[in-house]
Amino acid sequence: MSARILDGKAVAARIIEQLAQQTERLTQAGKRPPALAVVLVGEDPASAIYVRSKKQDCAKSGIRSISHELPASTSQEALLALVHSLNADPEVDGILVQLPLPAHIDADAITAAIDPAKDVDGFHSYNIGRLAQKMPTLRPCTPKGMMTLLAETGENLVGKDAVVVGASNIVGRPMALELLMARCTVTICHSATHDLPAKVRGADIVVAAVGRPQFVKGDWIKPGAIVLDVGINRLDDDRITGDIEYEVARERASWITPVPGGVGPMTRASLMENTFIAAGHTL
Ligand code: GUN
Repeated sequence: MSARILDGKAVAARIIEQLAQQTERLTQAGKRPPALAVVLVGEDPASAIYVRSKKQDCAKSGIRSISHELPASTSQEALLALVHSLNADPEVDGILVQLPLPAHIDADAITAAIDPAKDVDGFHSYNIGRLAQKMPTLRPCTPKGMMTLLAETGENLVGKDAVVVGASNIVGRPMALELLMARCTVTICHSATHDLPAKVRGADIVVAAVGRPQFVKGDWIKPGAIVLDVGINRLDDDRITGDIEYEVARERASWITPVPGGVGPMTRASLMENTFIAAGHTL
């Protein structure tokens, strides 16, 4: 069997087109479009590319993006002061501070300072806590985008065995909470997990979010499993590859996300959706 492709690029484009139509209706009704403040500190090349893509998606959705590009030498106090001023600004609905931040800045302190109602990344403890209690408010973008992709399969998720490889605060843990809310039986695997291949072999749904190229081997995939790959790894020859051995996995899975063009665009589409929600609109 060869897997059907979960085309995140196409699904994201559809979401963004719908949001653009919604913005059009808002402006026709005399209301301002949603506004997202995008904060980039320093010159990390990957972050610069991500931020540029996010601003392009804002433009396509009709969202006003307000860019703050600060030097790597920016102090924690100065960044906190910016966050506080964005919190207080009624013209700003969402605040995104691109991670990673320079080493002298405490990223957790910055995340905690963002008004949870403007935390369109869904990283604030309040928003994570709401998700943990099955009452999500602003949901972390990458897990949210993957749940949208799972809905696209039309498969019933209830009772499925899901394995999440990677336990980060921004992807693995909140994805496990999303899958639990969808009534999957969830296992979170991490660097201390014993016999990872056996865990993955038992999974109806596999999520790989470890940041290591082709870490999850294709022959670990249970025939018919749904496979979601969060990884974006650049190889020495500049090719981009995911965390899953795609060519082998696709022969076993029922559905699989490509890299690029799978989860990545869905993260940004979810960010656009969250900006609408933060602006008080229903989708
Ligand atoms: N760095 C890598 N992914 C993300 C993300 O989703 N949001 C932010 N703010 N920074 C990131």
